[in-house]
Amino acid sequence: MDTDEIKNLPVHVAIIMDGNGRWARQRNLPRVEGHLVGMESVRDVVTTTRKLNIPYLTLYAFSKENWTRPKEEVKRLLEILEIYLERELPLMMENGIRLNILGDIRDFPKRIQRKLQETMEKTKRNKDMWLNIALSYSARKEILQAAKTLAEDYRRGSIKRINERVFERYLWTSGMPDPDLLIRTSGEMRISNFLLWQIAYTELYVTEILWPDFRKEAYMEALKEYSRRDRRFGRVKEA
Ligand code: IPE
Ligand code: IPE
Ligand code: MG
Repeated sequence: MDTDEIKNLPVHVAIIMDGNGRWARQRNLPRVEGHLVGMESVRDVVTTTRKLNIPYLTLYAFSKENWTRPKEEVKRLLEILEIYLERELPLMMENGIRLNILGDIRDFPKRIQRKLQETMEKTKRNKDMWLNIALSYSARKEILQAAKTLAEDYRRGSIKRINERVFERYLWTSGMPDPDLLIRTSGEMRISNFLLWQIAYTELYVTEILWPDFRKEAYMEALKEYSRRDRRFGRVKEA
């Protein structure tokens, strides 16, 4: 793969995969078609991430708020999730990819919960890349559940100190580095309740490209742009 122009790759990439509905609408297709083609983009991006040896990829697939969409769309999205898990397991096994879910998986029907657990179990010895998929995800809920569990542990005396490092252990991303780069497709300039704690110093990249069209070339472009950024973390640029 041509990575000559990319000097410093991120360690953790997070993506808000947006624009499936608009993609379908532009073609006079039902929204679900956008979600189906979007699955191909997921495969492209996952494969590229692995090939580039980027060890963490986090994909926002379904937010807590997305449950308020029309019943039919939610139903189709759940079907697509099942197809995805079924179809992509061999790819995860062949490529040493470990699946991890961020979010309230108990919100899903039992069958999907079992499928998610099963896939996490089957891939848990894979060591080359973490694939986090955010499902029924809400960053505020993640932070709140962390605070609740932490408060409980503190009360019981199993933790003595509360600081950022300790707090992070209670997040669903526990043990993982924060994202270096956050990509959002389809042009919206917002975070939509994604990884609020973890993106404190993440580089943001928004592209007009709709998710079903976001393939390897577009991804490489984002990575190139990232490699040109000057990350200062509040410091003064060194002379
Ligand atoms: C992203 O595409 C997929 C999900 C949020 C599940 P959208 O369905 O939000 O597509 P737009 O934003 O309506 O185009
Ligand atoms: C964000 O997209 C969630 C996902 C990509 C899964 P939305 O389409 O739900 O976000 P808003 O409604 O435009 O903020
Ligand atoms: Mg959207």
